[in-house]
Amino acid sequence: RLTFATKTQTISTMAVVDEDNVGNVKRQLAKLFEVSLKATVPDEPDVEPLIAACTGKFGDYQCNNAMGLWSKIKGKQTGFRGPPSVGQAIMKNLPPSEIIESCSVAGPGFVNVVLSKNWLAQKLQRMLVDGIDTWAPRLPVKRAVVDFSSPNIAKEMHVGHLRSTIIGDTLARMLEFSHVEVLRRNHVGDWGTQFGMLIEFLFEKFPNLEEVNEAAIGDLQAFYKASKQRFDSDPEFKQRAQQAVVCLQGGESKYRKAWAQICEISRTEFHRVYQRLGVHLEEKGESFYNPYIPGVLEELNKKGLIEESEGARVIFVEGVNIPLIVVKSDGGYNYASTDLAAIWYRINEEKAEWIIYVTDVGQQQHFDMVFKAVKRAGWLPADDGLYPKATHVGFGLVLGEDGKRFRTRSSEVVRLVDLLDEAKNRSKSALIERDAAKDWSEEEVEKTAEAVGYGAVKYADLKNNRLTNYTFNFDQMLNDKGNTAVYLLYAHARICSIIRKSGKDIEELKRVGKISLDHDDERTLGLHLLQFSEVVEEACTNLLPNVLCEYLYNLSEIFTKKFYSNCQVVGSPEETSRLLLCEATATVMRKCFYLLGIVPVFKI
Ligand code: ARG
Repeated sequence: RLTFATKTQTISTMAVVDEDNVGNVKRQLAKLFEVSLKATVPDEPDVEPLIAACTGKFGDYQCNNAMGLWSKIKGKQTGFRGPPSVGQAIMKNLPPSEIIESCSVAGPGFVNVVLSKNWLAQKLQRMLVDGIDTWAPRLPVKRAVVDFSSPNIAKEMHVGHLRSTIIGDTLARMLEFSHVEVLRRNHVGDWGTQFGMLIEFLFEKFPNLEEVNEAAIGDLQAFYKASKQRFDSDPEFKQRAQQAVVCLQGGESKYRKAWAQICEISRTEFHRVYQRLGVHLEEKGESFYNPYIPGVLEELNKKGLIEESEGARVIFVEGVNIPLIVVKSDGGYNYASTDLAAIWYRINEEKAEWIIYVTDVGQQQHFDMVFKAVKRAGWLPADDGLYPKATHVGFGLVLGEDGKRFRTRSSEVVRLVDLLDEAKNRSKSALIERDAAKDWSEEEVEKTAEAVGYGAVKYADLKNNRLTNYTFNFDQMLNDKGNTAVYLLYAHARICSIIRKSGKDIEELKRVGKISLDHDDERTLGLHLLQFSEVVEEACTNLLPNVLCEYLYNLSEIFTKKFYSNCQVVGSPEETSRLLLCEATATVMRKCFYLLGIVPVFKI
């Protein structure tokens, strides 16, 4: 029988400090409830506190353990009459804490917690003085590999690689912020049979290839297409190309040099894109792992994993009815052999505790099979709840207006550089139309246009759950209203201008001023700011950047529609406190931008 509401208990303020997770309200509450749960049901010592933020009128957070506990103890002589009575006991057994203002039990035993607004205010103030990095979450891993971007040599980077680059960079940034050492790995496709035809074709075009510079070769992708055409139509060329592969893999210097030259040209091109996007990565391409393949396959063979099937060497894994081919019937290695060597290297040489792969969902089965093979080999524990572990971060397609795969009008693959150019140019035109930008320097206009344009492209991608497909639409992503980077960047700039225009020295206020959260909307804003740390933790744990985007958008909405609409800042008696709230909001927003790889703007 559900009974609603409730007795309110006020708890005296006494310091319970937790230095480990100073920014994480949920974890601090969990510590208190852990004590209380032990006292409430001494016979069940390992119950984990279930704490959730809530938006209801009964409280800010909720402890949801009573129902589960009741079902465990109900046959026993405990004196409890049902979940609500368990909830009452959990509430009574809470140790005194300055965090909690009041508690109540509602419904089937939820323990609602109202946080102390003085405590919230103190937390915000401390953050302003000590810096927002003190709010970084703590994760159970020390070192991670994030394998992302990973384009292929001699082929254009396309929107799929854009998604991997944007999502991977954000995940790396969030983990780095959370004290994880991240090895950012660019697993470029720089090895394979396609190099035979490309090299042979270039030798034909440029008999002295070594002396030819990058500019003369120019568009590698065009050469790649042309060589493919020759390969498919000219048997004599095909034979030479296959011979070239043998020479390259045998390490013949002329072929090696040509290969290195081709890689260098692509690398320069990729690098330009990374620079524009502010992304940094370390290249360890397929060729890097190639020498490790024989040894790794030998080890798998010794463990009895490798079988013969239709001339190929394969590994069977549970739940998948096709085998993972690790040596093709012609004796060559493939994508899977390379990935097995790479994951071996990452676990054993680089000692990574979490290995994260960011590619489109189309590669899910590949990674599923690789991970299962690795677990069969005992390199990773079978239980996904344990570290070290490997995770595939899949993402959906980018669609065009027609709902089909995003293509240009002439149905070519969309080039990444063209997209970035257009985003920048569009935001530049919009900027020039604004009065405010009239007396900006050329450089200021350029920099802002880039921040807004690239930020818009990134945010439009990151705000969606990565598994869903999304439609690429410049008009939508560059709109200054709604859930867009433009709106958020402008909101941040506006907050900065409120502080500037007040004429107050904000650094001085941080030292001597005091925050109070007496108005409801001040309190709502303060609470939301305090939830930053647990949101980042959730985004990291589930590898979901959209969780952080949603938080950022809500922050901006609470600031604008609640706090700033209802609480006068400049000239009010609460001016100091409210300016500090503006500063705290801008600080948290900037950290969100940083984690999303977006460059903030300070003026509009
Ligand atoms: N080069 C591949 C592609 O363009 C992505 C590589 C992803 N990483 C990996 N370790 N397999 O599809």
